[in-house]
Amino acid sequence: MTLIAEVRLRRVLDSRANPTVEADVLTESGGFGRAAAPSGASTGEHEAIELAPEEAIAAARERAVPRLVGEVYAGDQRSVDTALHAADGTDDFSEIGANSAVAISMAAAKAAGDMLGAPLYQHLGGAFRGENFPIPLGNVIGGGEHAADATDIQEFLSAPVGAPSVADAVFANAAVHSEIHDILGERGIPAGKGDEGAWAPSIDDEEAFEIVAEATETISKEVGFEIGFGLDVAAAEMFAEGEYRYSDRTRSTDEQIEYITDLVNEYDLVYVEDPLDENDFEGFAGLTEQVGEQTLICGDDLFVTNTERLSQGLDEGAANSILIKPNQIGTLTDAFDAVELAARNGFDTVISHRSGETEDTTIAHLAVATDAPFIKTGAAGGERTAKLNELIRIAEDAL
Ligand code: PGA
Ligand code: ZN
Repeated sequence: MTLIAEVRLRRVLDSRANPTVEADVLTESGGFGRAAAPSGASTGEHEAIELAPEEAIAAARERAVPRLVGEVYAGDQRSVDTALHAADGTDDFSEIGANSAVAISMAAAKAAGDMLGAPLYQHLGGAFRGENFPIPLGNVIGGGEHAADATDIQEFLSAPVGAPSVADAVFANAAVHSEIHDILGERGIPAGKGDEGAWAPSIDDEEAFEIVAEATETISKEVGFEIGFGLDVAAAEMFAEGEYRYSDRTRSTDEQIEYITDLVNEYDLVYVEDPLDENDFEGFAGLTEQVGEQTLICGDDLFVTNTERLSQGLDEGAANSILIKPNQIGTLTDAFDAVELAARNGFDTVISHRSGETEDTTIAHLAVATDAPFIKTGAAGGERTAKLNELIRIAEDAL
C-alpha cells in the first residue's frame, strides 16, 4: 500500500452546465484516480450538505488535504473516509462540503484500483463479489423538479427485469425511450428532454402511464423478455401542509397510499420510489404493508443513504429497498455501510445517479462491486450513457 501523495481539486461542468467539484488523487507509487461529484435537484432535506464548488474546494484544500497527503494509504478506503470526516468535524459535511468529500473519496478508490492494477469494481468488491448484474432502471418520461410543465410524477422508469444480460437491458431501455418518442410523435405531442434525458412532454400523469405501458409492452414483445416499469414519485417535492399537491387535485396521505396501491395493481409496477413524503416513515410502512409483497417500495429522500435513517425504516417496516447515492452521505465507506445494512436485512439496493451528472462512471463499478440488484442511471444522454456503457464493458470482463 502506498500513501496519498497529492490531491488536486478543480471546478468542472456538470450536465446542467453548473460547476461541480472534480478531484484527482495521486499515490506515491504513481496510482492515479479522478472522480467528480454529482448534484441533485430534488434533494432530500436530510442529505449531507453540498457547498458552492469554490467554497467546497477551498475548505477541502485547507482542512482535508493536509490530513490525507503523506498520511493515509489510498487503498485503505475506511482511513481515507475517516480522515474526511475528521477534517470536516460535523455530521453532515457542512464544513468541507459533501461534494468535495465524495469526489475525493471516489478518486482515492480509483487511485487505489489503479495502483493495484485492478478495475474499480474489483478493488471495491474484492474476492467475494458476486456475479449477478444490476438491472438498469431507465428514466423514459419525467417531470417534477427535472422539467417544467411536464408530469407531476418525477420519473417513469423502464425496468427490463427479464433481460438476459446487462447489454440487453441497456439496449431495451434505449428502445423504450425511442418508442416513447415515436408514440408522442403519433399523438402530436412535442417533447424536449428533462435533466436526466427522459422525455418531458406537457401531458398529465395518466397519459404518461398509458404511453409507458404501451412502449414497454411493444419493446418487450420485440426483444422477447419481460420489461416492466416503475416510478420515482419524488413525493416530498409535492408535499405541502399535510397534503400531496398534484396539478389537478390534492391527496391526503391516506388517499396517496390508496392511489399508489391502485397504480401498482393496475400497471403491475415493479418499482416505486419515494411514494410518500421524506419524513413519513409511517406512511411508507402502511404502503409497504399493502403492496410490499408485489413490488419494490424504495426510499430515496426517506433514507438519504444514511444508516441511522435506514435503521429506523427497518424497525418500522417502512419500504423494502433503498436508493444509494454516495453524494447524499459524502463517502464511499458510508455508502457501503448503508448497502451492507440494507442487504443484511433483506432490503434490495438501487445504486443511483443524480439529475446533475458528469461523465464519471464510479456508480457503475459500485453497483457491480456491491452486487446491487438495480442501478438507476437514465436511459439516454452522454452523462447517463457513460455509466451504461461502462456497465457493458464491465460485464464483458466479469459478469
Ligand atoms: P435528484 O433526482 O438527483 O434531482 O435528487 C434523482 C432522484 O430523485 O432519484
Ligand atoms: Zn428519487
